[in-house]
Amino acid sequence: MTKPVYLDYAAATPLDSRVKKAMETFWDQQFYNPSATYMAGRAAKQALDQARMNIAKTLGSKASEIIFTAGATEANNLVIQGVMRQFPEAEMVVSAIEHDSVLEPANLFNSREIPVNNQGIIKLDVLERLINDNTVFVSIIFVNNELGTIQPLQEVGNLIRVHLDHRRQKGIKLPLYLHTDAAQAPNYLNLQPSRLGVDMLTINGSKIYGPKQTGALFIKAGIKLQPLILGGGQEMGLRSGTENLPGAAGLAKALELAQHERSEQAERTRQLKKEFINRLEKKIPIVVINGSQKHSSPHVVNVSFPGFDNERLMMELDERGIIVATGSACSAEDSEPSHVLRAIGLSDKQARSCLRFSFGRQTSKTNIKLTVDTIKDLTSSDR
Ligand SMILES: Cc1ncc(COP(=O)(O)O)c(C=O)c1O
Repeated sequence: MTKPVYLDYAAATPLDSRVKKAMETFWDQQFYNPSATYMAGRAAKQALDQARMNIAKTLGSKASEIIFTAGATEANNLVIQGVMRQFPEAEMVVSAIEHDSVLEPANLFNSREIPVNNQGIIKLDVLERLINDNTVFVSIIFVNNELGTIQPLQEVGNLIRVHLDHRRQKGIKLPLYLHTDAAQAPNYLNLQPSRLGVDMLTINGSKIYGPKQTGALFIKAGIKLQPLILGGGQEMGLRSGTENLPGAAGLAKALELAQHERSEQAERTRQLKKEFINRLEKKIPIVVINGSQKHSSPHVVNVSFPGFDNERLMMELDERGIIVATGSACSAEDSEPSHVLRAIGLSDKQARSCLRFSFGRQTSKTNIKLTVDTIKDLTSSDR
């Protein structure tokens, strides 16, 4: 059987062999509990600290600002609930195109949504109006997982700083933090929190050729969090449970490689994306490319196929050995269409005609060509 064409890298990436190697010793050699005080345990703790330091080095932060989690969902929950539980009367603001792991915990609190324009970029003027003296938390996704759009985090950071200045003048002591879910960003964009102007940042191992169920939260020194998981007090008391040392080592290596190789990968992937869009538009003129192309990560293309049902198209492509995703993040067949596609103004019917194609290290020009030819075949009227 020929290998399928995999175009769903935004959902999962294969483990990099270099990452696998970096994890190897921690499965069966240095398997000791990092909290154990005998020598082997202390060595395991040292290895964990080394992984933390490596992540900090890649991010240009301090090791004490990194908390290991089991993926991005947990990091997002920890940061939102960890901050907001301390300020039950306060407000938070999130973009309308956040991942559910931000939207769902945000719904537990007084939260407001920043709309996006039809290109999938947040409306900064509305954000400015939504932030008031009672807002403590703003969360904006860095690269959207369905559209690939890149949000203007630096502008948001500037806006927050201006607001904080006003607050100081008024003698208001309430903090105001900026968090970004950067799960989709590390393979292509600079991730350093100080450059982005964010206070907190979520990382996900499974999208960067690292191990699944690994992630980390960067949280600027001095910011207090309430833990979600209580127990033995690991991770500076913020995330109890025996540490996942192989996972931490793998995550650190994966992040280092992603950031080291990002320029080269961005260039290569940008070419593939350009070629894909050009071919699609030429061969299937009805298609509509969703979201901004100017402010977009090279790895995601979201396409409407007006008049076609995305689930059916996805299944037919699957049968022909091409793996793509529907534009929606629906889990059940009859569930609601994607909130992201609705946020950019698509009707439910339009949203149900969208497919998400996402590229990665193994995607080739041949894959792109075959995919467009196959879609052309599946959508042509004389079938
Ligand atoms: C932007 C974004 N945030 C969070 C997540 C959640 O990641 P995980 O399910 O690995 O915790 C994902 C995964 O699809 C994502 O794309």
